[in-house]
Amino acid sequence: MAKLKLGVMISGSGTNLQAIIDACAEADYPAEIQVVISNRPEAKGLERAEKAGINAICIDHKNFETREAFEGAVHNCLKEHNVELVCLAGFMRILNSDFVNRWRDRMINIHPSLLPSYKGLHTHARAIEDGVRFGGCTIHFVRPEMDNGPILMQAAVPIAYDETPESLAAKTLTYEHKMYPAAIRMIAEGKARVSGNKVAFNGIDSGDVGIISPATK
Ligand code: GRF
Repeated sequence: MAKLKLGVMISGSGTNLQAIIDACAEADYPAEIQVVISNRPEAKGLERAEKAGINAICIDHKNFETREAFEGAVHNCLKEHNVELVCLAGFMRILNSDFVNRWRDRMINIHPSLLPSYKGLHTHARAIEDGVRFGGCTIHFVRPEMDNGPILMQAAVPIAYDETPESLAAKTLTYEHKMYPAAIRMIAEGKARVSGNKVAFNGIDSGDVGIISPATK
């Protein structure tokens, strides 16, 4: 079966990109990366892509007069590389609704909280400050409102009593790296699709193990 063609958009370190690169290196993985686009020339993720022999392109937003012009260049690049699914992986620019709607139901994002809680920045610090017992991460289809859209996959990460934003970020990233390749696989295999404002699953078990935090014994 033909592999799902991915375009991965980054702005920084690219550890989620690396997880996707590593998954795509497996012969039976049902997706392949066509292009990696960064809006920042210094993004370490560009080196990760180059090292893996993947097209790595910087489209620096600072070279464009308007957000529309920048997004037009990104759109054209994705089309030129025949991208079928856009994966935002630490892409740190707001995208206009025109761009988002062009890729509606064909663009996913990863966010480091249990959405719809803690949209925006500094998610871990805010969750610790509030004293909630779980942080987490979410993969969702992208809608024009920031950190919004049908939720595909989430991981709940218990927050320890002495947790710091850094320690929680590190713990959460390990789950992000497991989730992103798994979420792409579900889409590629036709097991997850948008239905209304939710994601419908086909042949996927939701799991039945609840977690209590703090542990009761
Ligand atoms: C991750 O925490 C992701 O949830 C958020 O940005 C960060 C990207 O990290 N959207 P990396 O560049 O993949 O290492």
